[in-house]
Amino acid sequence: MKVALTGIKPTGIPHIGNYLGAIKPALELSQSCEARYFIADYHALNSCKDPAAIRAMTLEIAAAWLASGLDADKVLFYKQSLVPQTFELLTILLAFTPKGLMNRAHAYKAILQANAESSRDPDDGVNMGLFTYPVLMAADILLFDTDLVPVGNDQFQHVEMAVDIAQSFNFSYGQECFRLPQPLATEHSKTLLGLDGRKMSKSYGNTIPMFASEKELRKLVMRIVTNSQSVEEPKDPETCTVFALYRNFASPQQVERLRQRYLAGGMGWGHAKQELFEVMNATLAPLRQRYTELMADPRVITRSLEEGSARARELAAAKIRQLRSIIGMD
Ligand code: ADP
Ligand code: TRP
Repeated sequence: MKVALTGIKPTGIPHIGNYLGAIKPALELSQSCEARYFIADYHALNSCKDPAAIRAMTLEIAAAWLASGLDADKVLFYKQSLVPQTFELLTILLAFTPKGLMNRAHAYKAILQANAESSRDPDDGVNMGLFTYPVLMAADILLFDTDLVPVGNDQFQHVEMAVDIAQSFNFSYGQECFRLPQPLATEHSKTLLGLDGRKMSKSYGNTIPMFASEKELRKLVMRIVTNSQSVEEPKDPETCTVFALYRNFASPQQVERLRQRYLAGGMGWGHAKQELFEVMNATLAPLRQRYTELMADPRVITRSLEEGSARARELAAAKIRQLRSIIGMD
């Protein structure tokens, strides 16, 4: 059976982009793969130095996985910081990572460009954790003999870098020490749009939280930006954020029906949004319910992470022993 692995950083309240773009497809994949899903908390440290926030977000993301149906008996579910072998592997991999490879990382290049545009020093705001982020991610992936990494398109380059680093290591020792992972585009990694029509992302402040209350959800849906067409005018479903979101929650028949109403005219944005709210709420209500139960006693969540992490450490320790012997540190 193939090994699938993915991580989510605890850097914000989980939103429906995370759910549809990462959590749901990963859970579907766990039906046919040996799945390893974790909270990438050390990845959050580069940008967040607030311990209370890290703790709270870790709990939120873990609860999001569990409320979405992750079965910790079937999926290896753990917290990166509880698997210290990751950081030993990071040190090993750094010796096989050309600095030039890191210079080419999109995320790093975007910061350089933003600094240049604002006439700041090129290194402004760049710590070494951020610069070497793809190597830590490679360690996460390679430590567990991963075949498939379900992630959004924005993460593909990082997985490709993990392959480069693994190949460099394998080549040095003339053996297949690391399995070569493949990024897996999930159906929804198309990018879910946010309230303002841009990619839904916590960095844009345009998200719909997964566990918004019914009232809050309705309010947010009503805030989605639309054009100023009148009720009578026919509307274009293909360029409409409400419709784009609707597609992800409604059945094909419902989608077709709403498409016809758009094209026919006579439907105001308020009605389209009400339709969207209803299908979203139908999907999210049971998740919200499980989330509320989990958060009422977070010990269930932390216990689940601790047990998973103990099992992850055993697997990781075996891999590190093998690697130490290969590099001559046994
Ligand atoms: P954000 O952009 O809000 O900071 P992250 O980068 O932490 O989100 O994303 C965590 C996971 O959720 C990644 O696998 C990412 O691809 C997925 N994801 C985030 N936003 C979206 C979106 N708008 N559409 C699809 N997937 C998304
Ligand atoms: N970098 C990923 C993100 O920002 C999170 C992540 C960390 C990850 N380590 C990983 C994803 C390993 C897949 C595999 O979304």
